[in-house]
Amino acid sequence: MYVCICHGITDSQIRQGVQQGMQHVRDLYQQMSLGSQCGKCVCTAKQVLSHCQSEA
Ligand code: FES
Repeated sequence: MYVCICHGITDSQIRQGVQQGMQHVRDLYQQMSLGSQCGKCVCTAKQVLSHCQSEA
């Protein structure tokens, strides 16, 4: 599923990011530019991020 439409970032890409050590939406922003356009994805990205972290 797409989390960030503006940059075409999916939940599996976020999962990979978590596996590579990304811990905050800020990391996704810096590495993938997630949230840097409309910003609507930030809330969902936080949820996906904490879901992936709880799985790890
Ligand atoms: Fe992520 Fe617009 S959907 S910046």
